[in-house]
Amino acid sequence: MPMSLPPALELSLDLLRCPTCPTRHLHPDRGALRCPVGHSFDIARHGYAGLLTGTRATSGDDAAMVRARDRFLSTGAYAPIRTVGARLAADAVSGQATVVDVGCGTGYYLAGVLDQLPCARGLGLDTSVRALRSAARAHERAAAVAWDVFRPFPLADGVVDVVLDVFAPRNPAEFHRVLRPTGRLIVVRPTGRHLAELRGRLPAMVTVDPAKEQRLHRTLNPFFEPVVTEQVEYCATLPGLDAPDLVAMTPSARHVHRADLNDDGLLPTQVTVSVLATAYRPR
Ligand SMILES: C[S@@+](CC[C@H](N)C(=O)[O-])C[C@H]1O[C@@H](n2cnc3c(N)ncnc32)[C@H](O)[C@@H]1O
Ligand SMILES: [Zn+2]
Repeated sequence: MPMSLPPALELSLDLLRCPTCPTRHLHPDRGALRCPVGHSFDIARHGYAGLLTGTRATSGDDAAMVRARDRFLSTGAYAPIRTVGARLAADAVSGQATVVDVGCGTGYYLAGVLDQLPCARGLGLDTSVRALRSAARAHERAAAVAWDVFRPFPLADGVVDVVLDVFAPRNPAEFHRVLRPTGRLIVVRPTGRHLAELRGRLPAMVTVDPAKEQRLHRTLNPFFEPVVTEQVEYCATLPGLDAPDLVAMTPSARHVHRADLNDDGLLPTQVTVSVLATAYRPR
């Protein structure tokens, strides 16, 4: 257990509140974070804070999915998505901004935003322990905290400038509560054309529900209004090993047989990447 607080966690400590008594701050104390009443949360050896205690979250990527995601993202095949996310964030805020990436995974997109905003600090939330290990190393200004998006966030009111949500579950009421009135929510999600070639070859792959956009609008609308939407669509070339990773990093991995992924010639070498990225302002 580290004796000192990881620097990125120290940078974001004032944002955090005790999950059990939400008005109280957390303070570092012998490898843990403690509230004045005595609730205590471990700081993992890998540098993230484990605020999620009690009942286990029902969702979150397993180690194999996170490894596949890490390998796949490091090929740069999704770099254009990262660029657009970072640009939308940089257009909305400047200076000492606070960025929270919900369902941050390996922290790939959060690191992209922090690179664009040299004075900003970042905090990634995820339920997956393996993802948090990577997220805690993703950027020197990015802290990582184990948290379930469907529970009230262990964060103070109105302290966040950008909430980033890339291919991850959402909690509009909590996004609204933690954002400043001038802040922005940035949501990146797939269109129906995303990875169409993969879906064509692997019928077991989870499809994008056509009603998803309406559902997104319905759930966000009471809290947020869209400011700008960018469509990112391109053809990505997938050399040999990338296509199996692209499947293995999605929830589809649970429905697709490993053997099918390794079958030569089954997976396409080119796929359509198609996402929408919207910046919303709080109502
Ligand atoms: C499709 S991945 C996207 C990860 C990352 N944003 C990216 O695009 O690389 C979804 C992420 O949400 C996380 N997740 C799933 N359920 C969650 C929950 N209830 N609370 C927080 N994170 C969750 C998963 O562990 C996973 O890292
Ligand atoms: Zn407490």
